Order: sequence, then C-alpha cells, then structure tokens
Amino acid sequence: MNRENTMIKKVRNLIMAFVAMLPMAIMAAPSGQALSFTCAGCHGTDGSSVGPSMPAIAGMDPEVFVDAMKAYRDKQRNSTIMNRIAKAYSDEQFKAMAWFFASQRLYLQPQEYDMNLAKRGAKLHDKYCEKCHENGGRPGDAGTLAGQWMPYLEYTMDDFINGKRKWPRKMKRKVDAAIDEEGQDAVSTLIHYYGSQQ
Ligand code: HEC
Ligand code: HEC
Repeated sequence: MNRENTMIKKVRNLIMAFVAMLPMAIMAAPSGQALSFTCAGCHGTDGSSVGPSMPAIAGMDPEVFVDAMKAYRDKQRNSTIMNRIAKAYSDEQFKAMAWFFASQRLYLQPQEYDMNLAKRGAKLHDKYCEKCHENGGRPGDAGTLAGQWMPYLEYTMDDFINGKRKWPRKMKRKVDAAIDEEGQDAVSTLIHYYGSQQ
C-alpha cells in the first residue's frame, strides 16, 4: 500500500471514530438530567432528598451509583421500590444519570441526634470506618454516610448484617470488630455521628 492510501485510511478511520461518538455525545448530556426528573419525587430535586427513608444521592460517586443501580436491577440488593425502578433503564442511562447526580451539590437536612452518642460515634468512625469512608463519611468512592438520613442508614446496616445486601470487600470484618469490641449499640452510635453532620 502506498503512503497516500495509508493516509486516506487513517483519516477515514478518524472520521468513522468521530461519527460513532457523535450521537452519544449529543444525547448523553441532556439525558442525565432529563432522566433524573423521574427520581425527584423521592430523591428530591437534584438528589437531596427530604424524606428520611429516601437516601440523598446528590454528589454520589458515579461508580458507586452505577453499581447500586445494577444491583437493584439484578435483585442483588434488597429494596422496597428501587428494583422495580432500575429495571426500566439501560447501563448507558445509569451512567448518564450517575454523572448528573455526581455533579449536584448535596444539601444536608437537619436531623435529630444524640450529642453524646455522636461524640462517641466519631471515635468509632475513626477507628473502624474512616479508612474507606474518608472525611467522616462525606461523599466518596464508598458512598455517602455523613449527613445521610439516619433511618436509611439503619435499615441499610440491618440489610448488611442480615445478609440482604452484599458486603463491600473487607467491610464486614470492621463492622464485626466494632460490634465485638464496643458492644451491640456500636452501629447506632455510628449512625448518630453521621446524622450529626449537618
Ligand atoms: C418511589 C420513590 C423512589 C423513586 C421514584 C426513586 N427512588 Fe431511588 N430509592 C428509593 C428508596 C426507598 C431507596 C432505598 C432502597 C429501597 O428501599 O428501594 C432508594 C435508593 C436509591 C439509590 C441507592 C442510594 C445509596 O446511597 O446507595 C440510588 C442510587 C437511587 N435510589 C437512585 C434512583 C434514581 C436514579 C431514580 C430515578 C430514575 C430513583 N432512585 C427513583 C426511592 C425512590
Ligand atoms: C474496607 C473498606 C470499608 C470499611 C472499613 C467500611 N466500609 Fe462501609 N462501604 C465500603 C464501600 C466500598 C461501600 C460502597 C459499596 C457498596 O455499596 O457496596 C460501603 C458502603 C457502606 C454503607 C452503605 C451506604 C449506602 O449509601 O447505601 C454503609 C451504611 C456503610 N458502608 C457503613 C460502614 C460503617 C459504619 C463502617 C465502619 C464500622 C464501614 N462502613 C467500614 C467500604 C468500607
């Protein structure tokens, strides 16, 4: 093949690659936000939910978000409603929504908590959870704990402990250690700490 042909081939490949990306690029940007309108009734406008059993999802790490949606769709994660909702979407749509919600600011709602439990919870958090849930559990690649609704955290921890939600790698060991070493109320103590971050 002569040089000119190689050149034409290269340019053609480049154009093909560009064209292949085009419709997705045009659609992906508005669709994340448009798709999220369906979620607003429960998760609040832009992901800061106002109801105590609906987790806030604003600022959520996009990978954790996509994993959560897939787990709901595949019935790998216990749920009251989300497995029915997640069934309606493709992986691409999960990704589009993930980027939309990740870019939203999380507005924390005030919740009632016990000050003494929260103080003790902060110490337990540093000892058992901070390694993965950095910055006191602020949104990161292990989800959001800080400021998350306490009732949601309670039933989510129950789901882990009762085998209804798959443990993240190495988390079980730390939760077991916290309960063994600090007592049965270790988990609720931790939850008061997360609820105290407002
Ligand atoms: C009818 C209320 C309702 C609607 C509508 C709804 N959700 Fe949910 N969502 C929940 C509840 C309740 C949970 C907790 C799990 C469960 O019980 O199903 C949850 C959990 C989640 C979680 C897990 C959060 C975490 O911290 O791990 C994500 C992500 C999520 N929803 C995304 C969405 C998206 C995206 C939409 C819109 C396409 C949506 N939800 C629509 C009620 C709702
Ligand atoms: C070795 C890392 C690791 C440790 C230690 C760890 N976690 Fe996690 N945790 C994760 C990861 C990763 C996720 C998110 C992935 C998932 O949802 O499966 C998560 C998710 C969670 C969730 C669910 C959040 C949601 O939005 O549904 C809760 C609650 C939680 N962790 C509490 C704790 C508490 C409390 C401790 C300390 C006793 C702890 N974790 C220690 C890695 C860890």
